[in-house]
Parts: sequence; C-alpha cells; structure tokens
Amino acid sequence: MTKIAPRVTIAMDGPAGSGKSTVARLVAEKLGLLYLDSGAMYRAVTLLAIQNSVEEDISTLIELVKECNIDFRDNGQRIILNTEDVSVQIRSPEVNKLVADIAKVPEIRHEIVRHQQRIGENGSIIAEGRDLTTIVFPNADYKFYLDASVKERAKRRFADLQAQNVDTTIDAVEAEISARDEKDISRKHSPLRAADDAIRVDTTGKTIDEVVDFIVKQIKTKNK
Ligand code: C5P
Repeated sequence: MTKIAPRVTIAMDGPAGSGKSTVARLVAEKLGLLYLDSGAMYRAVTLLAIQNSVEEDISTLIELVKECNIDFRDNGQRIILNTEDVSVQIRSPEVNKLVADIAKVPEIRHEIVRHQQRIGENGSIIAEGRDLTTIVFPNADYKFYLDASVKERAKRRFADLQAQNVDTTIDAVEAEISARDEKDISRKHSPLRAADDAIRVDTTGKTIDEVVDFIVKQIKTKNK
C-alpha cells in the first residue's frame, strides 16, 4: 500500500454505472484511505421511506431522516441503518426506482451532506457520488468525473446483476439508469455535473485497473 501525505480528500462524481464505486474502493485500498459511498446513504434513506410507508409523506420522512443513524462498517462495504445491516436491501429494484426522487429533496440532501462532511473530517478519504466535487467537498485536493456511454454502463450493470442471478434484461437496465441519470442531471438542487476543476475520465472501453492506475498516478504526480 502506498501512503500519501499528509491528509487528502479525493472527490469523484459520475452517473450510474460509470465505475466510480469499484474504482474508488480500489483506490482507497491502494492508498489506505477511508471510502465513502454517498449513494448508499441516499439508498438507505429511500429504504427508510419504504419501510415506514412514507414515500409520499416527505415531511414525515425528513423528520425520520433527522433522527436516524446511518453508519458504515468494513470501510464503506456495509451500511447500517439504525441497527440493521441494509447493505443488500438498498440495492433492490424498488430502491433503484425511487432513490432519485427521494434524493432530490433539499432538506434530505442537507442532512446527508452534513453527515458526509463530518465523515470527511476523520482523515484522508475518497468519496464518490453525484455532488461530491461540487457541494460536499468543493475544496477537495483531487476531483474526478467518471463517465461512460449509456450502452457501456448498462452492459456493466447487467453483467453485475446476472452474476447475482437477478432476472432482468439489458434493455430494462438501460432504461432504469437512463431514467435515473435524467432525474439526477435535471434536478434543481445539486444536480449531477462535472466540477470545472475535475479531471474527466471516460471509462468506455477501459478496464477497472486502467482507470484505477490512471487515478493513482494523478494523485502521486501531484503529491510529489
Ligand atoms: O451511486 P448510486 O447509483 O448508488 O446512487 C443512487 C442514487 O442516489 C443516485 O441515482 C442519485 O439519485 C442519488 N445520489 C445523489 N447524490 C449523491 C449520490 C447519490 O443524489 N452524492
């Protein structure tokens, strides 16, 4: 593991399936960083809404979000909502379908962003999502924006789902991520966009290792 000095914040954004979770996790391992999967937090809040049947009752949901506890274990691999490990449930088709609608609520974002910033105070971190380079860590030491064609992103997601024996089609996966992209890009508060000072990485046709190596190299070059 290569240690980088002294304390760094790496922020990474991009659309669904751009590879940022896998890449960020591997960069975290290589450089000994804390890994923050911000999407998992919006997913946990969406699950909280479903569990309490308040998907439509946003003011009650906001109160529940203020009172709930969201924690990570195993360096961001597992997520705990209150006392329950919800790492699997937050990836369900129901959550996929609803999460972008819940994530657009400004009061919910406010709570989650504050929580993320507090996590960021704990040390060197790599955090990924939709607004990490623009809103959560606007002064991050390194910023990356990962993207890939929608076809490629759907292909990757479909392969992941097939490996988990989820019954779906590539067209359904493409439709789901396109709908989510559209909502994330067009929302009023903290829409998905590349920060002006982010390094753009098109991952189409690249392997995960190639992208990880590129990012680690950028960090080491600037950290010399
Ligand atoms: O990263 P992931 O695909 O798990 O994110 C799920 C959803 O959470 C996104 O589609 C988006 O609506 C929301 N999200 C967000 N801001 C972030 C991370 C995720 O709005 N920083």
